[in-house]
Amino acid sequence: MLLPGDGIGPEVVQEATKVLEAVARKFGRRFQFETRPMGGNAIDSHGDPLPEETLAACRQADAVLLGAVGGPKWDDPRAKTRPEAGLLKIRKELGLFANLRPIKPFSQLLAASPLRREIIEGTDILFVRELTGGIYFGESGRRPHASGEEAYNVMSYTTGEVERVVRVAAEAARRRRGKLTMVDKANVLDASRLWRSVTARIMAEEFPELTYEVVLVDAMAMHLLSRPRDFDVVVTENLFGDILTDEGSMLTGSMGLLPSAALGTPGPGLYEPIHGSAPDIAGQGIANPLGTILAAAMLLRYSLSMEQEAVAVETAVSAVLTAGHRTRDIAAGQASVGTQKMGALVIAAL
Ligand code: IPM
Ligand code: MN
Repeated sequence: MLLPGDGIGPEVVQEATKVLEAVARKFGRRFQFETRPMGGNAIDSHGDPLPEETLAACRQADAVLLGAVGGPKWDDPRAKTRPEAGLLKIRKELGLFANLRPIKPFSQLLAASPLRREIIEGTDILFVRELTGGIYFGESGRRPHASGEEAYNVMSYTTGEVERVVRVAAEAARRRRGKLTMVDKANVLDASRLWRSVTARIMAEEFPELTYEVVLVDAMAMHLLSRPRDFDVVVTENLFGDILTDEGSMLTGSMGLLPSAALGTPGPGLYEPIHGSAPDIAGQGIANPLGTILAAAMLLRYSLSMEQEAVAVETAVSAVLTAGHRTRDIAAGQASVGTQKMGALVIAAL
């Protein structure tokens, strides 16, 4: 199921779809694509950022590939609904509690990062962000207050919510370098103290062979920039994960390169680039499609069990970068290619 969304979403999803079609030709597979409205465009057409029909169609799919949602047109704080509400709802409705966000700078692009090469070289982090709980989904509202108004959002977690995402992260660590870092704010938040006790128990009982550490989120914001190589798998709650993965994206130079996978209960996974809808460059044909193309590779790997095909797409992206092709966001002022050309180059490399 394709949910192109808003802004540059349709442009990058189109290229990723073409890459999947090329994968089908090369490996003798058959993919069936359908497209549905979601986000701001769905508010315009259906008055709902996630129309019932879109959600029902996603439930029937093997996997969902999403572009991006949102834009200034739907930003009015007084609006009844927002594009982002559709994204939160689809994550919740499909039970996608584990968000995998790999942060691994391409060696060809080390110069594109604002950080020095000697700091980022060799970085390979898998963030596992809890995606369907915490302050994003807690009780919230506004009420009158003597000074005007009071607004509140509650961060809450249950034992079960922590256990299941920690297991996903620890299993990933087992297949990688064997280290798990849990990030919290246990010196202040009760929710974090629950995370800390539940994670310690799961690690001791089920993953004693792994190296396990806890880091406070403010310190993590610092360590991510000063010693990113020290981390393997990092698991954390929803809001901390949202913030830390945007920060982490700068280790690679561009958000346009980063894919993500939202997985959970049996059923379709949701794959998307971690960048937003970039309304400032929408429609210009200059957006970087590589994040979405790499999200399609994750889709092949996790939802379709096509590891060979996934690796082929990742290898093709790497080859295109090695050959020196860049979209504007990673060109550092040098010559660049547009969205469609970049897609075509990946297909040629494939
Ligand atoms: C992300 C985005 C979303 C989030 C927004 C668009 C709701 O920032 O996927 O990281 O906060 O989860
Ligand atoms: Mn975010």
